[in-house]
Amino acid sequence: MIDIIILSVLLVLGAGVAIAEPAACDAATFAGILPADASIEKITLVESGASYGEGASDLNYPVSPTNLPELCAVTIQVVSSPTSLYRFGLFLPSDWNSRFLAVGNGGFGGGINWLDMGAGVQYGFAIVSTDTGHNSTTADIAWALNNPEKKTDWGWRAFHGSVELGKQLTEAYYAARIAYSYYNGCSTGGRQGLKEVQMSPDSFDGVVVGAAAWYTSHLNPWVTKVGTYNLPFNGTNHIDAALFPTMAREVIRQCDALDGLADGIVSLPSRCNPDYTTLSCSGPAGANRSACLTDAQIATAGNAYADYRAAASGELLYPGLTPGCEAQWSLVLNQTSTSPYGINYIRDFVYDDAEWDWTAYNDSVLEYAAQTDPGNATADDYDISAFRGRGGKLIMYHGLADGLVPPKGSELYYQKTVEAMGKGNLSGVQDFFRYFEVPGMGHCYGSSVGAPWAFGGGSQGSVLGTDVWSVPGFRNAEHDILLATMAWVENGTAVESVVATSWLGPYNASTPVLRQRPLCPYPQTALYGGQGDPGNAASWSCGLNVSVVKPIPTSAPIPSAAGVCSWDVALTIASVTGLLVAFMLI
Ligand SMILES: *[C@@H]1O[C@H](CO)[C@@H](O)[C@H](O)[C@H]1NC(C)=O
Ligand SMILES: *[C@@H]1O[C@H](CO)[C@@H](O)[C@H](O)[C@H]1NC(C)=O
Ligand SMILES: *[C@@H]1O[C@H](CO)[C@@H](O)[C@H](O)[C@H]1NC(C)=O
Ligand SMILES: *[C@@H]1O[C@H](CO)[C@@H](O)[C@H](O)[C@H]1NC(C)=O
Ligand SMILES: *[C@@H]1O[C@H](CO)[C@@H](O)[C@H](O)[C@H]1NC(C)=O
Ligand SMILES: *[C@@H]1O[C@H](CO)[C@@H](O)[C@H](O)[C@H]1NC(C)=O
Ligand SMILES: *[C@@H]1O[C@H](CO)[C@@H](O)[C@H](O)[C@H]1NC(C)=O
Ligand SMILES: *[C@@H]1O[C@H](CO)[C@@H](O)[C@H](O)[C@H]1NC(C)=O
Ligand SMILES: *[C@@H]1O[C@H](CO)[C@@H](O)[C@H](O)[C@H]1NC(C)=O
Ligand SMILES: *[C@@H]1O[C@H](CO)[C@@H](O)[C@H](O)[C@H]1NC(C)=O
Repeated sequence: MIDIIILSVLLVLGAGVAIAEPAACDAATFAGILPADASIEKITLVESGASYGEGASDLNYPVSPTNLPELCAVTIQVVSSPTSLYRFGLFLPSDWNSRFLAVGNGGFGGGINWLDMGAGVQYGFAIVSTDTGHNSTTADIAWALNNPEKKTDWGWRAFHGSVELGKQLTEAYYAARIAYSYYNGCSTGGRQGLKEVQMSPDSFDGVVVGAAAWYTSHLNPWVTKVGTYNLPFNGTNHIDAALFPTMAREVIRQCDALDGLADGIVSLPSRCNPDYTTLSCSGPAGANRSACLTDAQIATAGNAYADYRAAASGELLYPGLTPGCEAQWSLVLNQTSTSPYGINYIRDFVYDDAEWDWTAYNDSVLEYAAQTDPGNATADDYDISAFRGRGGKLIMYHGLADGLVPPKGSELYYQKTVEAMGKGNLSGVQDFFRYFEVPGMGHCYGSSVGAPWAFGGGSQGSVLGTDVWSVPGFRNAEHDILLATMAWVENGTAVESVVATSWLGPYNASTPVLRQRPLCPYPQTALYGGQGDPGNAASWSCGLNVSVVKPIPTSAPIPSAAGVCSWDVALTIASVTGLLVAFMLI
């Protein structure tokens, strides 16, 4: 009873009014609560306006955030087994909003995500990020070879442990209870968020996951399988990467207007079924040999789009690349021995065999990966009733132009959850779980066609600058998906739409706004009213255009969407600004 009274007093205090001064930013503050397996590596009071991070010694996040508010930065080491150790960073701002936030990682990289911590702390959160138990760049998986404990750290243990201990340290520092806890992450970060919801439903009140690479044991074998279609590199079936931009333009030409508005954005890729015979070398296009496709190459393209199904049973193993991804096909289709995410996962995670070669790929690889699921990384529990039962809210989003983690994978997770929890009735999950597709957005952020893509998702602030957070100029629940999630959790205001933004300078929020458009809860899409500037969000509304999308289902399979992609611009801009982009791959 007394506990309850104290808790409610603290919650009232936590709801925004002044709280007691934080404790001293030194080791003594935390000494009493650290368990025996944990120790403080570093603790620093960071002055307002300063930068903080680990620089180049953080292989996956070598760029540090700048212009920070005054905060206490803590780095903790946790021994997770005799052969593994993970670290996490904690930012504890002096001006605290009484809330806790965890941010995610990218790919197989190991490193504390200081950049996203910097964006998160600007909102006022106490914020945590783990290094996932190793130190490597995103596609380097050699650390996992013959080390099951490190696999487990990456799979879930480092993240979960960092959240648990991070919360305890936060409450000790402020001598107050955390009012609400949130999560925001993309790609591997998307997987981490779903995994935590599945394993520890009490960790968060609100969770935002983007481009979730949740189906680890299926996704990475698929990455390998799809790569084999364009091999051998010197085969007659091989499509040279120089042709990808031509193919991308052709898909836009064929599919842009199918959504009812010719704006250069393929907004309803599920309607798009590219016909490459228009580029056939034996047709009119054949006059230009560097811009035409042979029949064998057209067949390769068809294989890449096809869903990957088991040869024996026809079972769906992983959905295929989406039409329009050609501009970024080089990631999975321009490799001499399949993408490192695919082949290295099989070598270092699945078989512990550094010599395994892609030419040995067959369905048994995926079957074995799914049976063993090294590190228990795969986040494929679909009944998340426990999370819903304690009032949790889950927002998922995916760029329809993502060519790296196909958006149809997110749709699959949503569909499976609707089946598991709603008996196929969509309204059985929409009270706590909504999915937003983002037309024209690539992997986690950016768009090669100027589509609106910024809405406060994981890493989106970081790619706009080292001190950028939320959506500059639009820091409100209407435009920021994290703020919208907070309003859902704390005020019960369900997220009906979020307005996404893009700028004239693609990664420069100081330039004029190019376009704004609402993102809508699946299966709704944004509908242009036919009047007014299509670049203005007010010209759009959310709904089902029954002439293009059939209303959804009760107890029927949800129709699948396809997607276009836009990787090249993100890579170009990121290398210009010097920000590390590769960190979030898969
Ligand atoms: C990560 O590895 C790099 C290269 O070996 C090294 O320079 C750096 O100090 C390591 N970082 C940490 C945090 O161990
Ligand atoms: C392709 O390369 C392989 C290995 O270098 C070689 O054995 C084969 O003859 C080449 N095939 C063609 C069609 O050039
Ligand atoms: C609905 O789709 C049709 C067919 O593509 C299109 O002509 C119409 O403009 C769309 N209506 C709205 C409101 O988007
Ligand atoms: C052939 O196609 C390539 C690639 O699209 C283009 O750069 C080139 O200008 C074309 N050449 C001619 C003669 O049209
Ligand atoms: C495709 O791969 C080749 C061989 O590795 C490389 O030279 C080329 O730069 C790559 N192209 C793209 C667009 O990645
Ligand atoms: C599939 O690959 C596995 C492992 O490399 C091998 O043992 C098996 O014989 C292969 N199966 C077929 C049908 O080729
Ligand atoms: C593996 O993860 C799932 C959640 O994705 C969880 O339900 C299961 O208990 C975990 N298994 C083990 C052995 O930890
Ligand atoms: C789906 O669920 C909603 C809300 O629970 C309910 O009103 C509706 O009747 C259900 N539809 C079917 C076909 O079960
Ligand atoms: C909840 O609603 C109140 C009153 O409108 C508002 O001041 C507050 O910011 C809202 N909280 C969140 C998290 O949106
Ligand atoms: C962003 O745009 C502003 C306004 O045009 C300009 O002053 C600034 O240099 C740009 N920043 C970068 C990194 O290009």
